[in-house]
Order: sequence, then C-alpha cells, then structure tokens
Amino acid sequence: MAAAAIGTLPFASVPCRNHHQLRHGASAFNAQQFSASSSHWHSANLSKSGVPRRLHAAKRVIVAKAGAGRYKVAILGAAGGVGQMLSLLVKMSPLVSALHLYDIANVEGVAADISHCNTPAEVAGFTGKDELAGSLAGADVVVIAAGVPRKPGMTRDDLFGINAGIVMELVEAVADHAPGALVHIISNPVNSTVPVAAEALKQKGAYDARKVFGVTTLDVVRANAFVAARKGLPLADVDVPVVGGHSGTTILPLLSKARPKAPFTDEEVEELTARIQNAGTEVVEAKAGAGSATLSMAYAAARFVEASLRGLDGDGDVYECAYVQSQVVPELPFFASRVKLGRDGVEEVVGSELRGISEYEARALEALKPELKASIDKGVAYVQQQQQQEAALN
Ligand SMILES: NC(=O)c1ccc[n+]([C@@H]2O[C@H](COP(=O)([O-])OP(=O)(O)OC[C@H]3O[C@@H](n4cnc5c(N)ncnc54)[C@H](O)[C@@H]3O)[C@@H](O)[C@H]2O)c1
Repeated sequence: MAAAAIGTLPFASVPCRNHHQLRHGASAFNAQQFSASSSHWHSANLSKSGVPRRLHAAKRVIVAKAGAGRYKVAILGAAGGVGQMLSLLVKMSPLVSALHLYDIANVEGVAADISHCNTPAEVAGFTGKDELAGSLAGADVVVIAAGVPRKPGMTRDDLFGINAGIVMELVEAVADHAPGALVHIISNPVNSTVPVAAEALKQKGAYDARKVFGVTTLDVVRANAFVAARKGLPLADVDVPVVGGHSGTTILPLLSKARPKAPFTDEEVEELTARIQNAGTEVVEAKAGAGSATLSMAYAAARFVEASLRGLDGDGDVYECAYVQSQVVPELPFFASRVKLGRDGVEEVVGSELRGISEYEARALEALKPELKASIDKGVAYVQQQQQQEAALN
C-alpha cells in the first residue's frame, strides 16, 4: 500500500481500532518522524545529480513533479487565515499528488508561494467563480474553509447569514464537478452549514451521507491538549472523544471516555468542559478583532484531511471524531461522533461511545439537544427557502 511505504504526515492521536491504543509519534510534529519523512520528500524532488526537477508542464500548474501520492485535494477559501496554513500543511502530505487552491481573491500568490516547497504535490491556484469548476475537477477531498470568521462578541451562529450562502454555492459546484469527493466543512456555524451542504447536495441528487463531514477535529485537539496539561499526561497518549456539535454547549467532551483513564474531580470536569467549549472564544478575544482560530484550526483540519486520505488509501484502522449524519441520537440527524474512515468516507459511526457516560455528560447531552436540533433545522430550512425563491423567480 502506497501510504504504508511512504508514510503519512505525523499527526498525533489518530486512534486505532481499540481506541485506547493510539497511533502516535509525538504531541505534534515528531522531530524524528518529520526528518525521516522530509528526507523522503527531499529525495523525491531531486534527480540523481541532486538538481531539482522543476517542470512547468500543465497550464496553471505552478510546479509539476512526479509525486508519490495519488490523491487530489481542493481547498476552497485557500487565501484565508485557515486556508493558507491548511494549504501549506496539506502540501507536506506524501499522500497528495495535486493540491488545488481556490478563492475569490488573492490566491495566486498563495499558490506560487506554497508551490516552492520541495514536496511532491503539484499546486495550482484558481481565482473566482469562473475557475471554480477547474479547481474541483477530479478532487478526492474538497475542504471548504471559505467564509467570514467571528469577531469578539459574536457567536458562530452570527455567521450563518453570510456563510450558509457561500457553503451552498460551493457544494452545488462540488455536486457538478467533483460528485464523488469527500467534503470537509470548516465554515461556521458547522452545526448548520453541514445540514446546508447535505440539503443542497440532496437537491442536486448528489448526496452521499458517508461523504459529508463537519470538521470538529479542533475540539478534539484542544481537549487532548488541555487534559494532558491538567493531568500531567504525555500528550501523545491522550485521546478525548468530543461529540455533539461545534458551538458552545453543543460541544461535549466525553472525559469519562478519555484515554488513558484518569480520575477527574467534579471541579476538573466542569472546568475542562467549559474551557474546551469556550476555547474558540478564548482565541477570538486574544486576537481582538483580527479573526478567530486559524493556525490550530489548520493543524486540526490537516489532521482530518490526512486521516481521510489514509481511509481512502485502504488503511483499515482510521478513526476520528466528526459531525456527520447519523442515528446515534435519533432526534438529531447530524451529530459529532467518532467515525471509522474508509474507502468511501464514513464506514462506521461509533455510537457505543455514548453508552456508559457519566451523569454530568448525560445531562449535558440532554441539554444540548434543543440547540443542536434548531441549528440543524435552520440549515435545512435555508436551502429549502433558497430553492423556493429560485423557483418563484423562474
Ligand atoms: N470548524 C472549526 O473548528 C473552525 C475553526 C476556525 C474557523 N472556522 C471557520 O472557518 C472559516 C474561515 O475562517 P478564516 O479565519 O480563514 O477567515 P478569513 O476571512 O481569513 O478567510 C476566509 C476566506 O474565504 C474566502 N471566501 C469568501 N467567500 C468565498 C467564496 N464564495 N468562495 C471562495 N472563497 C471565499 C475569502 O476570500 C477568504 O480568503 C470561518 O467561517 C470560520 O468561522 C471554523
């Protein structure tokens, strides 16, 4: 298998089958793994004489090389705070052969800049609606990071008015030009933008529930970091499933299911849960008007892209939490759960995680249901209204 031969990006804590064993190397980029991987990339880009193989073969492909990876990733909103860093991290993946960067503005410079990294993925920039189709053609994974971020005092839901329309427009293009792709939605409010995407794809007859994901990996990354720090545990060992949604109290870290097993006092549970739920606001306030989390988000999104590619590549042991369509909580058609990733996206939703949770978590689960349900309904209703308005105009 190609992935096994060349390795993958060394993101921490992508859980194995029995969840308490972690596939890990380090808390972040492990120095040893990184140098081993990067020497592979380095040699892949040099001829025997050591001269870089720089080609300018295809139109718009800025640097074309024979890459060891075989997957095409398209990032929409690639010139943004999340998009730029995410593009760089995905360019580092040995599983990626082509990286398409799309935005409504300022993306050519980002593509030119990233293309100079001597890793195999071919990079191409696409600007504006006329080039959206080209950016999507043949994509295996499409990441949607387009839209406005929060400013201090705003909730994620305040972004709905703008971002719902952007997500709808972009997934409609995915239906037309990359119908088999996995779609990763970063744009907030994820609790509503994922139902928007699902409904828009349904209207186009192109919805496959296994292939549409709300990216909640940042909640897991934060939970792991905060729990490791609080309990003095080695970061690489910590795995906290985070379920529910991706906003305020809909974010439900299951500390009772954290690995390794650590005793938490009631006070610790309350403090850690509140910090994980409000971590995004912590960053928004620290940035004081200059946006929301971009760097940690890009790290988390790159981890999720890498996990998805490993699933596509046939690695039978890839689990991540994500906000997907499921029946784990019958009244909530979308719910973040740990999922097994495979050749067609979601292979299994691990609903068993909700069994045996603590009383505190069970109460929090009940409490989050009305808000999450309202966010889901809002997303579905938005697409239906847009369709009705369009029909009335025609
Ligand atoms: N899921 C999460 O955990 C998480 C975390 C952080 C940020 N986010 C969300 O990610 C999104 C992006 O955040 P950011 O900080 O990068 O914002 P940003 O403003 O820095 O970047 C957004 C980019 O989207 C582009 N864009 C706008 N409309 C577009 C369209 N129709 N097509 C293509 N591109 C378009 C903009 O030109 C810009 O480059 C926001 O919605 C934010 O709330 C989600």
